[in-house]
Amino acid sequence: MTTSSPLRPLIVLGTRPEAIKLAPLIRHCLERPTEIAPIVCSTGQHREMLAQVLGYFEITPDIDLQLMQPGQTLTSLSAACLTAVDQTIRQQRPDCLVVQGDTTTVMASSMVAFYHRLPVVHVEAGLRTGDLMAPWPEEFNRRVAGIVATLHCAPTEGAAACLRAEGVAEDSVRVTGNTVIDALLWTAERERAATQRWAAKYPFLENASMVLVTGHRRENFGSGLQNICDALGQLATDFPDTHFVYPVHLNPNVQGPVRERLSQFDNVHLVPPADYPEFVWLMDRSRLILTDSGGVQEEAPSLGKPVLVTREKTERPEAVEAGLAELVGTDRRRIVDSVTRQLSKTPQTADARHTQGFENPYGDGQASKRITDWMLEAIERR
Ligand code: UD1
Ligand code: UDP
Repeated sequence: MTTSSPLRPLIVLGTRPEAIKLAPLIRHCLERPTEIAPIVCSTGQHREMLAQVLGYFEITPDIDLQLMQPGQTLTSLSAACLTAVDQTIRQQRPDCLVVQGDTTTVMASSMVAFYHRLPVVHVEAGLRTGDLMAPWPEEFNRRVAGIVATLHCAPTEGAAACLRAEGVAEDSVRVTGNTVIDALLWTAERERAATQRWAAKYPFLENASMVLVTGHRRENFGSGLQNICDALGQLATDFPDTHFVYPVHLNPNVQGPVRERLSQFDNVHLVPPADYPEFVWLMDRSRLILTDSGGVQEEAPSLGKPVLVTREKTERPEAVEAGLAELVGTDRRRIVDSVTRQLSKTPQTADARHTQGFENPYGDGQASKRITDWMLEAIERR
């Protein structure tokens, strides 16, 4: 082993949330060139939505595998990912693999690293619902990465406890915080002066009440997503002065039903996926967020916003336990009732409840540094 050359982690990412949550880590590594020389590889599981994020964080992947196919299946994507990441590891001969979260990119890359006996650093490790079908297939993907990981970077104490309960060795688990908070703080700092730009893009909002909506979970495809749309249609009618802003995920299984059921409402704004700083502005500007997203469940409480989660189970229980998030599932009536309850509060009441005495369970903005320090300490150069 030689410690004089920089550590060469292969950082593989494929989708929008992985890019948002790995960008601060990559940027932190690039600030320490004598110690660490990351090789950034995009599988291209996402195309436009990934390019949006990488562009914003000024990250150019060293390798772009360009795997996305319109309407790709889990199997076709997994197969392509296994082959392409295998080739990349053969060519690059990195010291370790770094992956984040629970996507197909994460699951397939971790398996390939295992076949190469390459150490795996799993960022955002240990989140569990305990149900393989929810979120589907993400619970499986995250567990696969957990089986082969060498360093488990748990974002919270709860996630670390899940790993220990599964028998993961104490010294291979550390609570690092979630890098999503690093990204959020970096963006908020950088965009402080730009709010006029986003306000100008949404002139209809002015001082109006706004509900921000996202939805893309596979287990909600079909009746779940239809119910969410029907609930939104009902709410748009019940609250004609409230604007519902819905950046629609590019997955055709989402675009189709959402546009079909919600295009006719004047106060429902179906917009393309928002750039990350724009989305942060939208979250900050909103009265309430309705979402099935993982990342948004962490960001909303961090911005002091109430969040209603259109899922039956969550692997991020901290905000629910703190009374900052509520699981509303995909039942039309339940969603309508919960949103109505929230909108009936005065904004002051809603704000006070969500900002006073709040200790962010997801991190303090130092996760990237902790993860990098740990990698340098624990991973041997090959
Ligand atoms: C994926 C992840 C999910 C994550 C989500 C984040 C898996 C199995 N799913 O779901 O965990 O929460 O990303 O958004 O890993 N598409 C585009 N352009 C894009 C992105 C997607 O056109 O930039 C369309 C394509 O038709 C593509 C489809 O969306 O085939 C599905 O993309 P995919 O990554 O397979 O699934 P997501 O639903 O995005
Ligand atoms: N996001 C974004 N633009 C949007 C919607 C979401 O930049 O139009 C960001 C959001 O702030 C969060 C991440 O994307 O950081 C969440 O991604 P997504 O909901 O696609 O995936 P998940 O977190 O559910 O895996």
